Amino acid sequence: MARYRIALLPGDGIGKEVMEAAQLVLERIALDAEYVPADIGWEFWCREGDALPQRTLETLRSCTCALFGAITSKPKAEAEAELAQELRGKGLVYQSPIVRLRQQFDLYINLRPCKAFRGNPLNFRDDINLVVFRENTQDLYAGVEFHPLPEEVRLALEKHSPGMELFRNTPSDEIALSCRILTAAGCRRIIRAAFEYARTHGYPTVTLVEKPNVIRETSGMMVREARHIAALYPEIELWEVNVDAMAMWLVKNPQRYGVLVSSNMFGDIISDLAAQLVGGLGFAPGGNIGDDFAIFEPTHGSAPRHAGQYRANPIAMLLAVRMMLDWLGEKERGEALERAIAQVIAEGRVRTYDMGGTSTTLDMARAVAERL
Ligand code: NAI
Ligand code: MG
Repeated sequence: MARYRIALLPGDGIGKEVMEAAQLVLERIALDAEYVPADIGWEFWCREGDALPQRTLETLRSCTCALFGAITSKPKAEAEAELAQELRGKGLVYQSPIVRLRQQFDLYINLRPCKAFRGNPLNFRDDINLVVFRENTQDLYAGVEFHPLPEEVRLALEKHSPGMELFRNTPSDEIALSCRILTAAGCRRIIRAAFEYARTHGYPTVTLVEKPNVIRETSGMMVREARHIAALYPEIELWEVNVDAMAMWLVKNPQRYGVLVSSNMFGDIISDLAAQLVGGLGFAPGGNIGDDFAIFEPTHGSAPRHAGQYRANPIAMLLAVRMMLDWLGEKERGEALERAIAQVIAEGRVRTYDMGGTSTTLDMARAVAERL
C-alpha cells in the first residue's frame, strides 16, 4: 500500500488543464502515493444535478488529502437553466462545491501565501512575502440568507435592533438579508493558526484585518479574541488594521507585512489583492486546512475565457502541490519543488501569456519537472 492516498479533483475549465500540469510534476516527484481521480464541477451539476456527487465525498473520506483544480459557479437562475431537461423544476439548488467541501470537512483555515519570485516580470515589488490566513467556514459564507425577509425574522429584528428603524417603510420583498455570523471558537482557531505559523516561520508580526469601528459585534469579537491570543505569543506583535485601510497599505507598503489574518469575506478580498502584488491569480495557491484533512488548490477559478487552450499559468497549481508536500511533512520534496519553480521563473525562458510569453500550461510544467 502507498503511504498516501491523494484525491485529484480537476473540476472544469482551466482546472482540468492545471491539474494535468500538476500530475506531470507529481510523476517526477515520485511521492509514495496513490492518486485517486474524482468527479466535481459544472458538468456534474448539468448531468446529475449535483456538482459534488456523493461518491466524491466518499472517495475524499478515504484519502489523506486532496488536490483541486477549479470549478465554474453560476447564479441561481442561470444554473437552473443549464440543468438536464429531466432534472428541471425539481427544486435543485446549485451550491458551490468548494464552499460545501470546506464546511463538510471543517477546513477552517484558508492559507494563502503570496510570495514574489525573483525575475517575475509581474511583481509589484520583489520583496513581498505575505501569508493570508482567511477564516473558511463562517461569516457571510455560512449561507444564512433571506429574500424576501420572512415575517418572524423581521419582527425579531425590529424587536432587538434599533438599526431596523431605517427599514420600517420598506416592504419585506424589497429587503435582502445575508447574515455575517462569527463564533468566538471560530475566531480563536483561525487566529491561533496565524500566530502559530508566525512563530514557526519567524514572522515578527501578525496583522488582524477587520472593521471593528463599524461592524462592532463581529469584527469586535475578532479583535477581542486576537488580543487574548496575542498575549500567549509575546515575541509576536499584533497589528490591528481596518480592512479598507489595509487595501491602501498593501499597495503602498506591502513589504512591511507578513502574516495577515481575517474573517472569510475580508480575507477573500484582501488575498486577491495580495495575489496581484506577486503576479496575479496565476501565482496564488491556497490550502483549505482542517485538523485532519486538507484540500490544496490554486485560488483562481475556471477562467472560461482561457479554457480549452492550455494557456493558463500552472504556477499557482504547482505552488498548491508545494503546500501539500509541506502539509504531508515532505519537507525536502516541497523545498525542491519551490526551488525548481523559482528557477524557471528566474530564467524567464518559459513564460505563459500572463507573463508576456507564449509557452503553454504544459511547457511550463515540463520546465519545472526537468529542473527537479
Ligand atoms: P477566474 O479566476 O476564473 O479568472 C479571472 C481572470 O484571471 C481570468 O480571466 C484570467 O485573466 C486570470 N487568470 C485566472 N487564472 C489564471 C491562470 N492560471 N493563468 C493566467 N491567468 C489567470 O475568475 P472569474 O472569471 O471571476 O470566474 C470564472 C469562474 O470560476 C466562475 O464561474 C467562478 O464562479 C469560478 N470560480 C471558481 C473558483 C474555484 O474553483 N475555487 C474560485 C473563483 C472563481
Ligand atoms: Mg476569491
